[in-house]
Amino acid sequence: MSPMRYVHLDPLPLAEGEEPTLATLAAHGLPDKGFSRTLRSTRLRTIMATPTKQSARQSNKSAAPTDAVTLLTTDHKEVKKLFESYEALVRADTENSEKQALALQICATLTVHATIEEEVFYPAAREGLEEQDLLDEAEVEHASAKDLIAQIEGMEAGDELYDAKVKVLGEYIDHHVKEEEDELFPKVKRAKLDLEALGGELAARKHELQVEVARESAA
Ligand SMILES: [Fe+2]
Ligand SMILES: [Fe+2]
Repeated sequence: MSPMRYVHLDPLPLAEGEEPTLATLAAHGLPDKGFSRTLRSTRLRTIMATPTKQSARQSNKSAAPTDAVTLLTTDHKEVKKLFESYEALVRADTENSEKQALALQICATLTVHATIEEEVFYPAAREGLEEQDLLDEAEVEHASAKDLIAQIEGMEAGDELYDAKVKVLGEYIDHHVKEEEDELFPKVKRAKLDLEALGGELAARKHELQVEVARESAA
């Protein structure tokens, strides 16, 4: 399994204005392991480590149990909005630093999402479904998306083809999400899987990844 880079789908467990510290992490009883190859970008670290009023509200909301399909579908909607925001920045001819910050947030968000699917959701779906083709295809599509994400993360926003790569990544993700939501998720819903318990596992792993990122940003 490839190590995560980041991801900020949900807020970190911090009060508004609170900086992540090792003491904070210890207080949450979180594991002492980091993202080895993660967050090279200070800008992205800032994005991920800075809780906002909105994220605090989301944090309270995310305390409610969410089934696996709902959680993943919500992730899909969130990243779709991020891609739309990026397109708006391009149309407005926004400066590169702002575009790059958003592109990195997109990459990080996708990386976390792909990771929780690969570590938690897909293995459970494989056990619950006889048909494996959709899951095989999903994993191949994840690998291709990760290649493009790595390219974007290694570039500067002013580089040639930067905007094009972000756009193509968005189109690629649109295609992948459509297959998940139209084909895979309905099959999983019909299978004998405990989607509530699976949703809890997904949420826990996502939270853990976010805190690991916070730890790195605080180091
Ligand atoms: Fe996926
Ligand atoms: Fe997905």
